[in-house]
Formats: sequence, C-alpha cells, structure tokens
Amino acid sequence: MPATILLTGGAGFIGSHTYVALVEAGYQVVILDNFSNAARDVPERLAQITGHAVIAHDVDAGDSLALDAVFETYAIDAVVHFAAKKSVPQSLANPQRFFNANIVSLLTLMRAMERHGVNRMVYSSSATVYGAPESLPIPEHAPLRYTNPYGLSKLLGEQFLNQKIRQPQGWDVGVLRYFNPAGAHVSGLIGEAPLSNGGNLMPLLARVAKKELPFLTIFGQNYGTPDGTGIRDYIHVCDLAKGHVQSLEKLLRHRQSHTVNLGKGEGHSVLDLVKTYEKVSGQTIPYRFQDRRAGDVAASFADPSMAADLLDFRAERNLWDMCQSSWRWETLSDPAWQLSEAKPTPRILKMPAAGLSPQDFRH
Ligand code: UFG
Repeated sequence: MPATILLTGGAGFIGSHTYVALVEAGYQVVILDNFSNAARDVPERLAQITGHAVIAHDVDAGDSLALDAVFETYAIDAVVHFAAKKSVPQSLANPQRFFNANIVSLLTLMRAMERHGVNRMVYSSSATVYGAPESLPIPEHAPLRYTNPYGLSKLLGEQFLNQKIRQPQGWDVGVLRYFNPAGAHVSGLIGEAPLSNGGNLMPLLARVAKKELPFLTIFGQNYGTPDGTGIRDYIHVCDLAKGHVQSLEKLLRHRQSHTVNLGKGEGHSVLDLVKTYEKVSGQTIPYRFQDRRAGDVAASFADPSMAADLLDFRAERNLWDMCQSSWRWETLSDPAWQLSEAKPTPRILKMPAAGLSPQDFRH
C-alpha cells in the first residue's frame, strides 16, 4: 500500500512540482491550499500532467478544526509542509502577518499531527537561515542568523522541529534549505504564478522578455564578483521537487532525520541569467543598474555534498534548462489555458472554516 502524504501549500510553486514528483514516485497525495498565492486551476493542471484525479482541499494550514477533519478522513503517513509566506519585503512590511502564516500555522499543524499520531514531516526551509555567509560554498554547519522576519520565521520553524526530533519517541523530520528555485515543469502547465513573485529575478526576466516591463533593474554592479553583479545558486524546481521525494524516503524507510541544503552548488550572476534568458527566448532584455538592494549579499551558493551523501540527491538540470522551462511556462500560460475535456477531473473539496465533521469529507 503506497504511503499517503499530506502536502500543505501543494498548489504553490514548489508544492505543485513536488506533487508531480510524489505521484510519479507512487505516493498518494492530498493537497491542502488556501489558494491565497496560487491559481485555482492548479489542481486541474496537475491532473492533466499526472493523468490521475487530484484531491485538493481549500484549507488553511492553520485551521485546526479543518486539519482534524483531514487527518480523520485520510490515513496520513507524513506531511510535506510548504504552506507559508516567502517574500522578504512583505515580511518587513507586516511581520505579524508573516509570523501568523509561518509560525502560528506550523505550530497548529504540528499539534494536529500530534493529535492524530503523525510524526514525520518534510519542512521547507531556506538558505536565508545563513544570513550573510562568512565563506562559500555554504555548508549546513555554517552559523545561522536572520536578517528579516522571514528569516526568523524559518529559523524558528527549524528549531521547533528540532525539539520534536529530540523528544523520546521523537519525530522524523527532513529540513530542506532551498537556495534559489527557478524554472518550471517541462509541460509548461505549472510554474511560478506571477502573484507569488516577491521580486524574484527569473519571473521578472520573463516579464521583460515578454515586453510587459520595459527593462530589468539590476541591483548592484560593484559587488566583488567577476562581473560585479550578485551571484546565487539557482536550482531547477523539478530537481528541488525530487529532493523532497528523496527526503521523504529517508524518513519513511530509515527513520533518519536530516537538515540539508538543496542547491546545485554553482553560482551564477545576474548578468549570466540575463544572457541565458535572452538566448532561450530570442528576445533582448534591456537592463539598468541601480543601487544594491537592502539585505542582499554579494554571493550565496551551497555546499551540496551532504544532500548527495545522505539522500543521494544531485541537482541535474542547468541554467539553460531553468530559463527554457521558465520561458515555456510564461509563454504557454497566457492568455487562457484550456483544459482538455478528456482528462480526469480533479476533486476539489471546499471546507467550511467551522462546524465541520469528518463526514463532510467522505466521497
Ligand atoms: N535581482 C536583481 N533585480 C531584480 C531582482 C533580483 O538584480 O529585480 C538580483 C538580486 O539582487 C540577487 C539575484 O537577483 O542578486 C537574485 O534575487 P532574488 O530576489 O531572485 O533571490 P534572493 O537570492 O534575493 O532571495 C532568495 C529567495 C528568498 C530567500 C533568499 C535567501 O527568494 O526567499 O533567496 O535564501 F530568503
């Protein structure tokens, strides 16, 4: 019997790609998403890609009552927890909202898991927990620090889960520290929705290439990097998705908790991305330099060796693949994407916020 995985935030950018990877690996998956930052047609697109009906519930991961109903309905073996906010500027503008979404919801979910005897989780963390790195590449044992409320929320999340791991009969937890996710599924049917873009580089490149924006603003041209622009470790979202499957397998088969970087271990500058995106799209991407963006570091890239050793994880796709799949997604996804009638209809069940009983979920 395949394990059943609860995927919170499963309609989002990384969540939707992980859904596909989990289904392809043979898991049964239940999506929870409040669709605050994901398009409502994502489950239909997932059905199209996988060829299987999708179970998706319109539920906030911080809704205790609704979580009880979900855990009573499905025999959940493990949770992959994506549901969270991720924009650094938004976290600075409204920390309270951020802590509610990222910390209060995590604690509510953990309490619901406890009530229902579920003690395995793969947790979305971020390289943001390293703050400004002292040396490169960044290993997992590098000092941890935060420079904004988003970073604090990820650090606290890791620490709450570490407490659980250390308890007698402790939890099995995979903490995955993402570097810079980019690209899209090869089908072009899912990718990073514009509404989820908190100022990240690749979706902005796409908008300039599509002539929705007149030029790209490059933040900083005098960093101590070969071309003067910031360097990051871009990792294809499908590689990242595969990392979640490998993390989950470590938990389910070996009960081995772990905290690992998920990166490619290579740095690329902003100008590298501009040039590659130009080639892939066949469009010119005008750019203008501006002052450095507050909070940005010159360079950040992972030491990916622990993920390779522990999980046998390697990010295989390169920058070209990331730009090409991004461009495909960006150009296929508008104006209106039409579903094929022949494909299975996903099951999207709406849940009221209160007064709910597990019977509401029977289908
Ligand atoms: N950049 C530009 N112009 C833009 C946007 C970005 O020049 O319009 C540059 C940035 O200065 C940086 C690089 O492109 O050098 C990448 O910037 P992103 O905003 O795409 O990504 P960040 O590395 O700033 O942020 C990512 C995640 C955050 C996470 C952080 C650290 O988006 O959630 O990594 O892990 F906190």
